[in-house]
Amino acid sequence: MIKALKKAVLPVAGLGTRFLPATKSLAKEMLPVVDKPLIQYAVEEARAAGIEQFCLITGRGKTALVEHFDIAYELERTLQERNKEAEIAMLRAVAVPPGAIMTVRQQVPHGLGHAIWCARAFIGDEPFAVMLPDDLVLSDTPCLKQLADVYYETGGNVLAVTEVPREHSHRYGILKIGSDDGRMVEVTGLVEKPKPADAPSNLSIIGRYVLLPQVLEHLARMERGAGGEVQLTDGMARMIGNTPFHGLRYEGRRFDCGDKLGFLEAQIAFALKRPDMAEPVRAFLRHYAELE
Ligand code: G1P
Repeated sequence: MIKALKKAVLPVAGLGTRFLPATKSLAKEMLPVVDKPLIQYAVEEARAAGIEQFCLITGRGKTALVEHFDIAYELERTLQERNKEAEIAMLRAVAVPPGAIMTVRQQVPHGLGHAIWCARAFIGDEPFAVMLPDDLVLSDTPCLKQLADVYYETGGNVLAVTEVPREHSHRYGILKIGSDDGRMVEVTGLVEKPKPADAPSNLSIIGRYVLLPQVLEHLARMERGAGGEVQLTDGMARMIGNTPFHGLRYEGRRFDCGDKLGFLEAQIAFALKRPDMAEPVRAFLRHYAELE
């Protein structure tokens, strides 16, 4: 029997060093794209995929993330006094039902695999999604919903994958693939951040996963991989052959918002999707393009 996918784990303990000084006292997941923080995009995408329970893997200085999904009584009251009904409705939509978010501290930065292992009590014996909020996906169907559909078809692990230039393979988890129907690929191997010459394909993992809880048994061994860290990719690789494992070339465009250029591009792409902003944004883009 295929168990329902109701849980998501969001690792948010990273220091955001690529975004200093902005991230000196601000969690990088609170950086806004247009007017919404990255973490909110991830939570909304998850809820659209049927996720009901969230576990944030946090660290020091990340309390704003939890505050963001709470009810802000004082703010709502002030808005009410000013008859700002639309803003109140917007805030209400951000809050999640009571008890839907819990946090776990990672305490020590031992890698993504270690971060996920920290959520083991939350995950229990159920399938779960992993979402890296730095990876923002602009798509018609929310990216995690696309993965969830494949999970319900196959009952196994599913990764969101995309082609990358071979010289970028050292930035990603890379797939070794078996059968490939152009949309879904069978995963026969996984390597974390290989050198271009060692990359088994040019298909990379992006920050959306649906995983079976068995991965925890492998992560629990705390074997160190690339960069001396406990890698989620290595834990996943150990499940290959025992459970169905697929990569999905998702529909949509992914922006690496942990990177300055990727973040800037996301601002523009998301603003151009907003009816109230598209026209003026196009106008100023033309203006700056002509200045070249
Ligand atoms: C992590 C994963 C990697 C994946 C990437 C996607 O790497 O370890 O396999 O391809 O996220 O963004 P990180 O970006 O944390 O170094």
